[in-house]
Amino acid sequence: MLDDGIASDTSREQWALEVRVLELYRHLDARLLDGDDGALELYRDKHAKFLRKGLGCLNAGFLGLDASRTWLCYWILHGLVLLERPFPAQPDRDSIITFLASCQDPEGGFGGGPYQLPHLAPTYAAVAALVTLGGPQALSVIDRPALMRFLLRMCIPPEQGGGMVMHDGGEVDVRGCYCALAACHMLNLDVQTLADCCGMVDFIRRCQACQGKSYEGGIGGEPGNEAHGGYTYCGLAALCLLDRCQALDIPSLESWVAALQAPFEGGYAGRTNKLVDGCYSFWQGAVLPLLDRYAPSNARATETRTEQRPDQDLSPETLAARALVHSLAVRLEAAEKLEAEAEAAYSSAVHAQNDAAVSNLQHAARTAQHASQRLREGLDRARSQVAAVAHGAAALVATGLPGAPAAGRDVAQSSVGAQSLQVWLLAACQELRGGMRDKPGKAPDYYHTCYCLAGLAVSQAWSGVVVGGPCNALPTVDLRCNVRADALADARAWFSGR
Ligand code: FPP
Ligand code: ZN
Repeated sequence: MLDDGIASDTSREQWALEVRVLELYRHLDARLLDGDDGALELYRDKHAKFLRKGLGCLNAGFLGLDASRTWLCYWILHGLVLLERPFPAQPDRDSIITFLASCQDPEGGFGGGPYQLPHLAPTYAAVAALVTLGGPQALSVIDRPALMRFLLRMCIPPEQGGGMVMHDGGEVDVRGCYCALAACHMLNLDVQTLADCCGMVDFIRRCQACQGKSYEGGIGGEPGNEAHGGYTYCGLAALCLLDRCQALDIPSLESWVAALQAPFEGGYAGRTNKLVDGCYSFWQGAVLPLLDRYAPSNARATETRTEQRPDQDLSPETLAARALVHSLAVRLEAAEKLEAEAEAAYSSAVHAQNDAAVSNLQHAARTAQHASQRLREGLDRARSQVAAVAHGAAALVATGLPGAPAAGRDVAQSSVGAQSLQVWLLAACQELRGGMRDKPGKAPDYYHTCYCLAGLAVSQAWSGVVVGGPCNALPTVDLRCNVRADALADARAWFSGR
């Protein structure tokens, strides 16, 4: 976040977040440097237990999600298959399928719950949930011809501005294009017909903020809107489904997304000058992997970068050790800045004889001081002793997963970014009792558990590095549809015969 020296609610929230995260990372660094193998463990069973509870009867606190019940099914089922943990015994598979079937509209598409208006967002969620469940019983629920008619009905003709409405009479934004296209692709329906019907490529291109009045390279909800991670994923993934991401200004998109990865926390923010949030680990975290996979010009750019890098043949262990030094150095810089700010705030409270603030600020200043001290020690050790580096980095194991960096990729760059993101997810977004969260201090929920896990899976596959060791490795996610790649292949093969 840009520090312009002007205190605001956001800068105060950011400051408080950094203090919390610093505390967590200080604890983590101590455990890593002591050779504690479990310091970055993914709590698979606890998360699976947390997720399973959401498929049963929910309490009144969930009333606000009544129009998102197909989403709840998707978040939970996708989370469980990413964790490679079984679905619950109760409600069983059949009941989940029957429930999803009851959300389908006779005219095509799905509502968020039974008898609700069909809408593109719950339609994507229901299709993704059924694909995740897999098998003829689940897949045959979907009335594909009616669904296609529903999708075509949501199209706004190009001469009227293009794009898709979210539901009959609803708002037009880039989520609609994505949800419709991803559902179409999962069902092996014709994505091109849909895109042509609403001038989709041009609509999404106009949503990239730099094509309109702002200088940002991300994508907004509608033409002229502020760039945002959620819409950026939707717009980019939709164009990748059409093999048309060249329509975007790719260098500008790359710089924007890279700038939104917070150097201290390691996670992503959704938009400029906002706080990091675990869910953007997927929405933003999938952008560079999507570009690497689907934008040939991006491959050219990485080849050029690689030519300038003499160390591409270094072993994964050396890269991981370097990454530890790099991440400690970045964190130390941020910690020293925090320390100075905390000292200054403490001194001015003492000066102003503001007793109420003095003791709080004294505590914050001490915490920041300890944290930088700890990081300084860690960095010295990591730099000066190869053994200490290897020790501290022992948890960072490159596993050679499918999708690991190929020749011509900027390995060190992606490796550092991916490791910082994974450390953020494992050390700051996991709740000890199960479930994952937006940020430390927030309660875990199903949405964040799903997208934190998806972000983790994408980061592992893209970088080839599994922070915390092979026991944390997650299965491959399809980057464009965010369902498991194997389930998607099975579903598309099943539909191709119909
Ligand atoms: C801002 O929230 C968030 C939005 C305006 C919508 C975000 C869109 C998505 C997450 C994508 C949805 C994807 C599909 C497939 C339907 P905020 O202001 O609370 O958060 P912020 O401060 O992080 O911007
Ligand atoms: Zn979030």
